[in-house]
Amino acid sequence: MAYADPPYVGCANLYPEKREVDHAELITRLVDEFPDGWALSCHTPSLRELLPMCPDDVRVAAWVKPFAVFKPNVNPAYAWEPVIWRGGRRKRERTEGTVRDWVSANVTLRRGLVGAKPDGFCRWLFDLLGVQPGDEFIDLFPGTGVVSQMFDRLDQRLAL
Ligand SMILES: C[S@@+](CC[C@H](N)C(=O)[O-])C[C@H]1O[C@@H](n2cnc3c(N)ncnc32)[C@H](O)[C@@H]1O
Repeated sequence: MAYADPPYVGCANLYPEKREVDHAELITRLVDEFPDGWALSCHTPSLRELLPMCPDDVRVAAWVKPFAVFKPNVNPAYAWEPVIWRGGRRKRERTEGTVRDWVSANVTLRRGLVGAKPDGFCRWLFDLLGVQPGDEFIDLFPGTGVVSQMFDRLDQRLAL
């Protein structure tokens, strides 16, 4: 399975590459190369553009941010982010808790990268996709590397 956290549409200038990611190409790659499941982070203004590029069976989950950066003159604030996801491990034991299609987690500060995801977001992402230790989980836009680090931690914890 894979997670894609590219620069959001129109936000390439926030990163050293300064190059927009072709989201149509990215979504085609996710569909073709990761039939078991994938998730794509984006921002609400791009949902209208991105959803028509996705297969009909995607769902939209939400990362809501009780603490977010409030910008002057942006009111109401943009305080949640969509996660478009497809597939994942469907079969869950009856004893397992029901995973919500949203998570509430504060934004991270001082990680040195715009858009770095908090630990709680990563844990929820794994639950959403039903990722288990031993699965191959590819983080296509690693940034700080937190998603892979959290996945390694999940692997180690369950190995214990
Ligand atoms: C939203 S950040 C990823 C944050 C990461 N998930 C984390 O939690 O730390 C997007 C990453 O993609 C990189 N990036 C920007 N433009 C890119 C491009 N055109 N191709 C590949 N990577 C790009 C950025 O440098 C940045 O590391």
